[in-house]
Amino acid sequence: MEKKAWSGRFAGTTHSLVEAFTASIAVDVRLWRQDITCSVAHAQMLGEVGLISMDEAEQLVAALHDIGAAFERGEIELRPDLEDIHMHIEAALIHRLGDIGRKLHTARSRNDQVATTLRLWTREAIDQVNGQIGHLQAAFVTAASREQATLMPGYTHLQRAQPVLAAHSFLAHVERLERDRLRLCDARARVNLLPLGSAALAGTSLPIDRSSVQTKLGFAGLCTNSLDAVSDRDFVVETVFALSLIASHLSGWAEEWILWNTHEFGFIQLPDALCTGSSIMPQKKNPDVLELIRGRTGRVTGDLMSLLMLLKSLPLAYNRDLQEDKPALFDAVDSVLSCLELATLIVDGARLRQDRISAQLEAGFLDATTLMEALISQQVPMRTAHGIVGALVKAAEEGGLHLADLPNAVLQATHPALLTIRDQSLGVKKALEAFRSKGSTAPKLVAAELSRWSDLLTQRGFATTIA
Ligand code: ARG
Repeated sequence: MEKKAWSGRFAGTTHSLVEAFTASIAVDVRLWRQDITCSVAHAQMLGEVGLISMDEAEQLVAALHDIGAAFERGEIELRPDLEDIHMHIEAALIHRLGDIGRKLHTARSRNDQVATTLRLWTREAIDQVNGQIGHLQAAFVTAASREQATLMPGYTHLQRAQPVLAAHSFLAHVERLERDRLRLCDARARVNLLPLGSAALAGTSLPIDRSSVQTKLGFAGLCTNSLDAVSDRDFVVETVFALSLIASHLSGWAEEWILWNTHEFGFIQLPDALCTGSSIMPQKKNPDVLELIRGRTGRVTGDLMSLLMLLKSLPLAYNRDLQEDKPALFDAVDSVLSCLELATLIVDGARLRQDRISAQLEAGFLDATTLMEALISQQVPMRTAHGIVGALVKAAEEGGLHLADLPNAVLQATHPALLTIRDQSLGVKKALEAFRSKGSTAPKLVAAELSRWSDLLTQRGFATTIA
């Protein structure tokens, strides 16, 4: 076994349990690509400022690429005694280059190194998640276009409330996802700053050029305080918070579609390929994917809680606790990426069951509020109109009728204006067509929103199919 990189002041060897307990390689091996990118930029900078010769810098860069290729081929053996990804790469470098390899860590600590590597990884993860969000938004827009003419009951308190276009409902999910995307973009701005050059905690007395590394790694700026730079994991928390909210949005949507998929609702048909069966009940076709999307929200929110607990009461600057940031971040990213991917398949593959929806569309007085608004347009005070329509609903319910079927005599006796407005506001289709406010489910406005979203997503490189 080789000596540890930090063994100079130690007399004996590390206890095997300590080695196993402190090693993070099983988790942080995922950072190899970003760690090499980080080291390549650092080595080049060391050459530029003369801390090593240009020739040495070139040898380091070539060897780092070679190590990357070895990782790619799965040839690097993972060893708990080498602790983490940074030590694995440095050991491989020293194995290849001897003393030149021993120069890479000049003016650098693993503290600023891991912070930099993790920021590179998080930046890529955010871009990947945003890509998947775009695909899901495009799937919803395509579905909205396909279902442009489909009327559905809209719910509050899970009770039938007012009619909406299915497209309006699908576009509501697109809006939520857009906020998710913007939140990630906002977090990305704070991810995209360079900690490297902060060294262990206080900076370095060596003449490094942080701006050169910043440019090479494509960071928008430098972390300005070395103590903060090596301690800061806010960027991880913010990212995982944004991911938790995505998971929560997906969970709410999954719950809605699980309900729609029940026999009781019967609003939606899920493709066989995206459902699973029961080991005992032969008739079952279960929406397990939707259920697991709903279930994974717990994990992602748990990741967020882990991180918040991890950071609470950590004194400045680096503490080894911070190593625990990675399992939570990786799990949250993996979970949300797969949920988004599966959600996209479901939105693409599901079909509304228009027959089932329309058969029940007149149930539940979805047109009551529109009738009330028509009375208001006839100068009836709102509260009075509310009372009038409430009484009509009661009468209709008792008679087992829809509002549109109430006899003229009943309407006339309740309020004379009802006779003139009944034709323009009663029945779910009429009620839907009466909407006009901005942001409402009015068919013209929904069509305009549909094309706005389709154009926007096309500009961003996500194809939608508009019927
Ligand atoms: N594996 C460590 C982490 O992820 C790297 C930094 C360790 N630094 C140290 N001085 N032990 O946080």
